[in-house]
Amino acid sequence: MKHKIAVVGAGNVGATAAMRLAEKELGDVVIIDILEGVPAGKALDLTEAAPIEKHDAKITGVTGDYSAAADADIVIITAGIARKPGMSRDDLLATNMGIVSGVAKSIAEVAPESILIIVSNPLDAMCHAAFEASGFPKNRVIGMAGVLDSARFRAFIAMELNVSVENTHAFVLGGHGDTMVPLPRYSTVAGIPITELLSPAKIEAIVQRTRNGGAEIVGLLKTGSAYYAPASAAVEMAEAILKDKHKVLPCAAYLEGEYGIKDLFIGVPTKLGAAGIEEIIEINLTGAEAEALQHSADAVRALVQDMARLKG
Ligand code: APR
Repeated sequence: MKHKIAVVGAGNVGATAAMRLAEKELGDVVIIDILEGVPAGKALDLTEAAPIEKHDAKITGVTGDYSAAADADIVIITAGIARKPGMSRDDLLATNMGIVSGVAKSIAEVAPESILIIVSNPLDAMCHAAFEASGFPKNRVIGMAGVLDSARFRAFIAMELNVSVENTHAFVLGGHGDTMVPLPRYSTVAGIPITELLSPAKIEAIVQRTRNGGAEIVGLLKTGSAYYAPASAAVEMAEAILKDKHKVLPCAAYLEGEYGIKDLFIGVPTKLGAAGIEEIIEINLTGAEAEALQHSADAVRALVQDMARLKG
């Protein structure tokens, strides 16, 4: 049976994700937005590309009609506003909290068995909003951040060492923000830790560029934030779930004591398969790494507390 994937938000990330999902023939794609015409127009445009791209995914776009997402296997939530220069992801909190909560509630009604992949920022806080509003179990609410941050780290490692990106692996933990925790010890080229291949100064420069990866692109685009790599990252997660790959990927997951963190979404290594998050993998951290992760968790917790205050 063909899978069904709903993408909420027909903007830059949503439309790009829809395109990649269709081109990989991961299933039929429904795009939902509040804008009149835009989701239908983008869906039609993508449909007209299908003969050239050689796929048979059915792509539809609707305005505000959540019944179109009925029984979707996966829902990728990209609805919300994106950053402009000078804004941090946290500046999006109040607006996107309302949007993501509303979307998650509507999805829970029409696709109660679906798995939510959250993309809207500030990511970890938006996972909380979706978790609460949907009432879904923790294995079915997953945040896209670590795959993107790791991909950025990998791209910079490949550029620095002039090696294929395919040879690179990288791990980034923590919140999707300035406090994210790239782990050079667990980042490799063909299995060789980058700590063996690059000087501490070079590694630190790459780590900083990774932390600043989103802002670097916002600064160049000026009118919005990154979307090609974020869309790729969300689609990699969807593929791991739809194909039940048991793939280990860093994702924002709801922790209940793992890494000493409780009742909080934050980026950790997870195993993704048909059930969503099948396992949270606990790796050994050095004292400094563990401290950096706690610091990142504190930043996420502060946002979650802000959301509670905003809700009144
Ligand atoms: N329901 C559905 N769609 C909505 C809603 C809503 N309640 N509110 C806003 N949208 C839609 C907008 O109409 C717009 O088409 O979400 C889309 C967002 O698209 P863009 O502005 O192009 O933003 P994008 O770059 O796709 O980023 C979306 O992902 O990476 C994060 O920080 C980014 O939070 C942002 C989100």
